[in-house]
Amino acid sequence: MTTPDTLPAQTQTQTHADVAMAQRRSAELELRIQEAPGRFRVLTGDRPTGRLHLGHYFGTLQGRVRLQDAGVDTYVVVADYQVLTDRDVAQRLTEHVEDLVLDYLAAGIDPERSTIFTHSALPALNQLLLPFLSLVSVAELRRNPTVKDEIAHSRQASVSGLMFTYPVHQAADILFCKANLVPVGQDQLPHLEVTRTVARRFNDRYGQGGPVFPEPDALLSAAPLLLGTDGTKMSKSRGNAIALADTADETARLIKGAKTDAVRRITYDPAGRPEVSSLVLLAALCQDREPEEVAREIGDAGSAALKRTVTEAVNDRLAPLRSRRAQYAEDRAYVRKLVRAGNERANAVAEATLEEVRAAMGTRY
Ligand code: TRP
Repeated sequence: MTTPDTLPAQTQTQTHADVAMAQRRSAELELRIQEAPGRFRVLTGDRPTGRLHLGHYFGTLQGRVRLQDAGVDTYVVVADYQVLTDRDVAQRLTEHVEDLVLDYLAAGIDPERSTIFTHSALPALNQLLLPFLSLVSVAELRRNPTVKDEIAHSRQASVSGLMFTYPVHQAADILFCKANLVPVGQDQLPHLEVTRTVARRFNDRYGQGGPVFPEPDALLSAAPLLLGTDGTKMSKSRGNAIALADTADETARLIKGAKTDAVRRITYDPAGRPEVSSLVLLAALCQDREPEEVAREIGDAGSAALKRTVTEAVNDRLAPLRSRRAQYAEDRAYVRKLVRAGNERANAVAEATLEEVRAAMGTRY
């Protein structure tokens, strides 16, 4: 796992010490969440760019559902403005938003307990962007390693202003509801640093009456990185990802074509045998078992047997999600209603925060 393709972008630019520290902090937070879930407010979310896949499911969705079920107040942002960072027009946005929400519902996010909203529908959230932008320098914006990486991979001829400023907009996503916990992948750690900086500077500059914003913590997922069926980063655009919404047959076909190697005996050795090991890991995650045990069980039966095991494990695990998703997909009007209700709830929170910001800044006339 040493080629840039198989690693999240951040490991190239972020030190291992940063990540290790975030991991230790996350383990500590997990304990505190169990003790007092009511002290936390979570905000997390996704860009609506297509259907979610197993990498999302094991990397973040499952964790969100766990927090929600533990009683943590959870906000989920459908980041529809963020899609515009590297596209001229966000194509099929309505469809993508609905697809994303269907994936959330399939995975077990409960709109009664979690607030699902689109940030474009929250004027007060977006208004926070102006004072927040005044608190960061252009040099800081330019240094952001995740933004740099996105620019490097962008297909656009030029870089939009939104591209540079979206981490600050993301700070508004997080701070409008005063979230103190943000479950993210490693690539989002630099953005969370921006959020913490904005919160700290805002409080320093305007918080004479007491701090307005918390400095939220990142909660890193403990799930190991799942690769796509070709052994590179799992991504729908590479055709190597199993979507939650795929059928059992599509899943079987994709796994059948998965890359393996010439060694018959199946082992779990992520560094030496990334493709085989990722398949083993996938079966293990689906069955809530240890990958070593799955590999041992298959042993000399070889990659055909491995693929049969993985296909069955994935399809069994996803069956209830897929049927739930299909049910909700029949009722798009319900999905839209649910987003409107989430937006209404989130709007009330955003208005209240903006009022506080106005009071702190002395702009309440
Ligand atoms: N940047 C995230 C992504 O690309 C999506 C996102 C937008 C987000 N706002 C957020 C994630 C706030 C966490 C918190 O997937």
